[in-house]
Amino acid sequence: DIQARVEKALTMKEEDKLYRYNGVLYPIIMSPPENLKALEGLEARSDDVMLVAYPKCGFNWMVAVLQKIIAASAGLEKSDSKIAPLIEFYSPEVQKVRVFYQRRTTISNAPSPRLIGTHLPPKDFPASFSAKKTKMLVVFRNPKDTAVSYFHFTNKNPVLPTAKSWDAFYSDFMSGEVAWGSYFDHALAWEKRMDDPDVLILTYEYLKENLQDGVRQVSKFFGFKLTEEQVKAISEASTFNAMKESSKDSHGQMGNVFFRKGEVGDWKNHFSEAQSKQMDAEFEKRLAGTKIAALLKY
Ligand code: A3P
Repeated sequence: DIQARVEKALTMKEEDKLYRYNGVLYPIIMSPPENLKALEGLEARSDDVMLVAYPKCGFNWMVAVLQKIIAASAGLEKSDSKIAPLIEFYSPEVQKVRVFYQRRTTISNAPSPRLIGTHLPPKDFPASFSAKKTKMLVVFRNPKDTAVSYFHFTNKNPVLPTAKSWDAFYSDFMSGEVAWGSYFDHALAWEKRMDDPDVLILTYEYLKENLQDGVRQVSKFFGFKLTEEQVKAISEASTFNAMKESSKDSHGQMGNVFFRKGEVGDWKNHFSEAQSKQMDAEFEKRLAGTKIAALLKY
């Protein structure tokens, strides 16, 4: 199914790859309007393990960590989930018949705990997630590194348009004219939910420095009980190098695209002085004094 979608994307014009839904851009191949509409009917469970991240903030990293936590706490050696599960990628048929990450079952029949992921902002989540008080792990990353990571990703991923240049992409990122919309809008939306007990917000930078503690926090937050050995083993298997090594297995040909550099501060190799200042000013204007800014050390 993914392969067919990628092949279709290869035949498309760059300018046709994104379309607008409720004012925000989405990749037409992966998230056509019927997918987004069908989400309204998705039934949440209170024990769903939900992972939310703006693109390129570390989603695939935390998918792997969560899969390992779920498997370990169930006494399994390995998770059978292979693909990053984004609910907006499910076609209505897929939602009914089978899902990416658990090929032999439907999303509604999948056993708990289900690992559910999305890049959507909270206002666009299926309504039942708030009704069920589903717990959500939210990952954020410094906006400069996020933009750089997104630039490389959009150029290597056929379902997204190739950028004309770094400068052109930077300017689209700043105005929110990229798939899944404005980074700043997402950050502001999560600021409102910072103190919500059902929400745990971690940053890419924190996880880079404190992966073991991150794994511990995440498993505790979702109510899983891991031994210290399990925490250690999961962290060791989830470093950038370990994940890059196994990425052919987990992500096929897209492995090198998803696991590029995995570092903090690569923005310095891309941003001009003026761009860096402009982004600082935009961050200041939109997010000054917020808790999320403090979390991002901005
Ligand atoms: P870079 O492009 O800066 O290398 P997402 O999964 O949300 O698309 O995010 C992708 C980014 O997370 C990429 O950043 C990727 O290299 C990085 N990444 C993936 N796995 C990682 C890991 N285990 N540790 C650190 N960074 C990781």
